Amino acid sequence: MASKKPKQIAIYGKGGIGKSTTTSNISAALVEAGYKVMQFGCDPKADSTNTLRGGEYIPSVLDLLRQNARVDAHDAIFQGFGGIYCVEAGGRSRGWDAPGAASSRRLNC
Ligand SMILES: Nc1ncnc2c1ncn2[C@@H]1O[C@H](COP(=O)(O)OP(=O)(O)O)[C@@H](O)[C@H]1O
Ligand SMILES: [Mg+2]
Repeated sequence: MASKKPKQIAIYGKGGIGKSTTTSNISAALVEAGYKVMQFGCDPKADSTNTLRGGEYIPSVLDLLRQNARVDAHDAIFQGFGGIYCVEAGGRSRGWDAPGAASSRRLNC
């Protein structure tokens, strides 16, 4: 049997152009079409997934790493509309990360 390879779609651009809104609507449409969907937000504001969760924000991977020595996947993955898996990478906080360190840390988690 052929294995299913996950497809990744990246949406990027300057702030305020509707990335999060468009992405969440694409995620919702895909989950309603029967796909298993994970939306992974990379904005330091960690706000890409909140519309999938009724306006509720989830803790970002970097916030969890700041509070805990170890973070497992299930600590950072939350479900939203239709069962969409929601993750927010988060961003740099003053005094905690050296420039550039946050990006590599959140991608390694
Ligand atoms: N197609 C659209 N028409 C009108 N307003 C929109 C549209 N898409 C997004 N918005 C609004 O624009 C603002 C920025 O959208 P957002 O998705 O947060 O942008 P980004 O993620 O690129 O920063 C929000 O207030 C959102 O409700
Ligand atoms: Mg956004």
